[in-house]
Amino acid sequence: ARITLRQLLDDAAEHGYGVPAFNINNMEQALAIMEAADGTDSPVILQASRGARAYVNDIMLKHMMEAVTEIYPHIPVCVHLDHGNEPSTCVTAIQHGFTSVMMDGSILADGKTAADWDYNVKVTRSVSDTAHWAGVSVEGELGVLGSLETGTGEAEDGHGVEGKLDPHQLLTDPEEAAKFVAETKVDALAVAMGTSHGAYKFSRRPDGDVLAMDVIEAIHRKLPNTHLVMHGSSSVPEELQEIFNRFGGRMKPTWGVPLEEILRGIRHGVRKVNIDTDCRMAMTGQVRRVLSEDPTEFDPRKYLKPAMTALSKLCRERFEAFGTAGRA
Ligand code: G3H
Ligand code: 13P
Ligand code: NA
Ligand code: ZN
Repeated sequence: ARITLRQLLDDAAEHGYGVPAFNINNMEQALAIMEAADGTDSPVILQASRGARAYVNDIMLKHMMEAVTEIYPHIPVCVHLDHGNEPSTCVTAIQHGFTSVMMDGSILADGKTAADWDYNVKVTRSVSDTAHWAGVSVEGELGVLGSLETGTGEAEDGHGVEGKLDPHQLLTDPEEAAKFVAETKVDALAVAMGTSHGAYKFSRRPDGDVLAMDVIEAIHRKLPNTHLVMHGSSSVPEELQEIFNRFGGRMKPTWGVPLEEILRGIRHGVRKVNIDTDCRMAMTGQVRRVLSEDPTEFDPRKYLKPAMTALSKLCRERFEAFGTAGRA
């Protein structure tokens, strides 16, 4: 059945678990994630970015989301817009059946300029007003994701924030977070504490200087009843890097967010954990393997099926680790 983010995260808070939010762009990802949710009896958040919506087509996406709830009627599915960049993007998502939208007012609609407080409050509040009329949940974001190692917003993955940021912007301030939630009425709040999107988050295993989990603890102390969201939460496992590189891929050594740091977050109010990069690596590693092991192969099912199996395995591991398993 379809469920809102609010319903799902309220249950997660009550029972002390976290929910992975996996990005989807196609049928294979949707089916593989659902297979893992079913296999572990987990509720799930399927999220689509603006890029995903453009790739799949909103109508196709809408029917795909309906299809997965028809195939797995007993699994609660939250259909979430990842990083909506303006109110109209959120409204068209609602029109196409999303049960939750993110209005990311931490950057301007151009995706590369850090926004000021007034802009963020204004656009987020307006989405909350509209979405809540429609029974849809809202995620907002305060603070700019980026690297505390380099002091830049959104290091290395293309949709970067321009210029060197004030270090203060890269860490969400707990007092401001409380004020932001009160003024915008969001159901969940994404915070900045050193994670960034993509594979290249940290140049070494992260410590507290570059992954400031204490900021999450401080925000949770200030806002014990607000559902917190961690973006950029792929762990970028070494074994996935190894498979990718073994079969001709080129990824330089890199570190993501260790699972134990995510679990620490879940103990302190983190309820939604965004994961895309790990899913991409799990699938692409298998595509590389199959195509390089058998250069005569040209049936897409022959590489997509192993890709789906690898994605399912990754999702199962996250459901088990975050305590989502058994909560459907
Ligand atoms: O925000 C980043 C997510 O990984 C989605 O990425 O915009 O390339 O679909 P995307
Ligand atoms: P990763 O790139 O770490 O998977 O983060 C995904 C994300 O935050 C989507 O909003
Ligand atoms: Na999101
Ligand atoms: Zn994100």
